[in-house]
Amino acid sequence: MSNGHNSHENDEHELRVSKIRDGTVIDHVRGGQALNVLAILGIDGTRGEELSIGMNVPSDRLARKDIVKVEGRELSQDEVDVLSLIAPDATINIVRDYDVVEKHRVERPDIVEGVLSCPNASCITTGTEPVTSRFSVFEDGVRCSYCETIVREDIASLIDT
Ligand code: CTP
Ligand code: ZN
Repeated sequence: MSNGHNSHENDEHELRVSKIRDGTVIDHVRGGQALNVLAILGIDGTRGEELSIGMNVPSDRLARKDIVKVEGRELSQDEVDVLSLIAPDATINIVRDYDVVEKHRVERPDIVEGVLSCPNASCITTGTEPVTSRFSVFEDGVRCSYCETIVREDIASLIDT
């Protein structure tokens, strides 16, 4: 994938954030999105979670990338699906005993249910009726299946926590 020169450069840059023993490395996150990735995962460090974050580091695949390393936690498919909304190029690496034992690219689902809350106050999903939110996912945004509201910016702020 990368030529020798680039991978050598990358190795040097990656030393900024140390290797983990067991857990998940979320790599190739769009520059500037690392804190949103943590918000989606519900990780804020207050419960003693061991994590490392690199932001806006040089990358050969993206102009600048973020990288998030979470020790002691393997992400579920649901979590990965939601991450795809803000980090469509991310690679999820599961690490056990210092080795990468699984690597997958995130995939954007066509539909996300019960994950985002609609910003439209008069949407049926935001009322008192128990209606599960449902959004169609597009290349550049999401659309509420009930009220058709389209959101392109700051999708992370819609995430139900
Ligand atoms: N990593 C880590 N701790 C480990 C093993 C790997 O933090 N014990 C990190 C590496 O620093 C890298 C990512 O996990 O950011 C993926 O590791 P690896 O597959 O070894 O690197 P690459 O081959 O460069 O990955 P890719 O091709 O996906 O860029
Ligand atoms: Zn709606």
